[in-house]
Amino acid sequence: MKLQFTEEQQMMRNMVRDFAKEHISPFIANMENGEFPREVLYKMGELGLMGIPIPEKYGGAEMDFMSYIIAIHEISKVSPTIGVILSVHTSVGTNPIVYFGTEEQKQRYVPKLASGEWLGAFCLTEPSAGSDAASLKTKAVKEGDYYRINGSKVFITNAGEADVYIVFASTDPSKGSKGVSAFIVEKGTPGLIFGKDEHKMGLHGSRTLQLSFEDMRIPAANLLGQEGEGFKIAMANLDVGRIGIAAQALGIAEGAYQHAVQYAKERIQFGKPIAMQQGIGFKLADMATAIEASRLLIYQAASLRAQGLPCSKQASMAKLFASKTAVEVTTEAIQVFGGYGYTKEYPVERYFRDAKVTEIYEGTSEIQRIVISKHL
Ligand code: CAA
Repeated sequence: MKLQFTEEQQMMRNMVRDFAKEHISPFIANMENGEFPREVLYKMGELGLMGIPIPEKYGGAEMDFMSYIIAIHEISKVSPTIGVILSVHTSVGTNPIVYFGTEEQKQRYVPKLASGEWLGAFCLTEPSAGSDAASLKTKAVKEGDYYRINGSKVFITNAGEADVYIVFASTDPSKGSKGVSAFIVEKGTPGLIFGKDEHKMGLHGSRTLQLSFEDMRIPAANLLGQEGEGFKIAMANLDVGRIGIAAQALGIAEGAYQHAVQYAKERIQFGKPIAMQQGIGFKLADMATAIEASRLLIYQAASLRAQGLPCSKQASMAKLFASKTAVEVTTEAIQVFGGYGYTKEYPVERYFRDAKVTEIYEGTSEIQRIVISKHL
């Protein structure tokens, strides 16, 4: 087992690091004030970052899956907000069309998504169907060449800004998860109504909207896959999505950790840097160890995925562990900074606020344990 990046992967890492320094860092304050990073995303599109694993045939960069994970990790070290926008856009906003779409659907949507001209979103969660995703209430009724969709969604990342929405609705409620179907919905479709943008604890530059569908008519040609195949489409793409969120969590942990190490080497108390005091040195050692363990779980899941092998269990393990690490490491990073860590003068409080949701979205930690335990 090789644990070294290829030349291509190293190039991706260096390119993303440079990009983050030059184009993302200066925009962090704007995002903290709620501004959506549209211009940054367009620039990322120009560099091929909005379609890293997407086939060239459909306008993507067709790079390996690990390069995609490296990009999310590096971006999230600087901006977890842009990390989640990218992960949702690619893993669950674009990939479902690449893997389950007809040739016509791929031609129409994927090039614009992969180039970053359009942004993608994934609409599964509902007010009464969160962890129990199969119990969704949104209904799609076929009427000739159209489906009429009614229902509502919550916590939809990228909504409002996104141009393409993968919407899950039941075409046969009597069949439970086997009655769920997936649809491609374009922004501007009459009946697609954007609701409240949630006022979140962190990830302030990202959008998290409520949506409702009021007699929204969708051409039957926008059914993704077959009727009743929607739940499997959701689950299969969430496997991949969860590796992306794990990489985002790793970026958050590492970002906070790097600031904590630097501060601990500079901050003098009791006549020497606090990094040299065992209480802080041990803290940093534990943080570094948990980060390395997360990294290895993520690389394992990503490597299985890159080879086209089943990766549900490993993806859930990676997300479970990396998100826990993000929460713990960001908490400890604040502790290393002491009182300064609790202020907005240093970035660790931002990482702390951004970390928590990685234990919630794309399946809570409890759901990851369900997925893992089903495989044991
Ligand atoms: N790949 C393919 N098919 C899968 C699958 C997978 N990973 N997991 C399950 N399936 C299939 C099963 O094989 C089964 O089909 P068969 O009967 O034909 O075998 C079918 O789906 C139903 O499976 P389960 O009986 O296991 O389904 P369940 O109702 O018990 O639910 C669950 C399983 C894992 C709890 C699932 O509901 C789940 O993942 N819940 C969490 C939802 C979630 O992650 N939401 C995230 C929203 S998106 C988001 O957060 C994005 C964002 O904003 C950042």
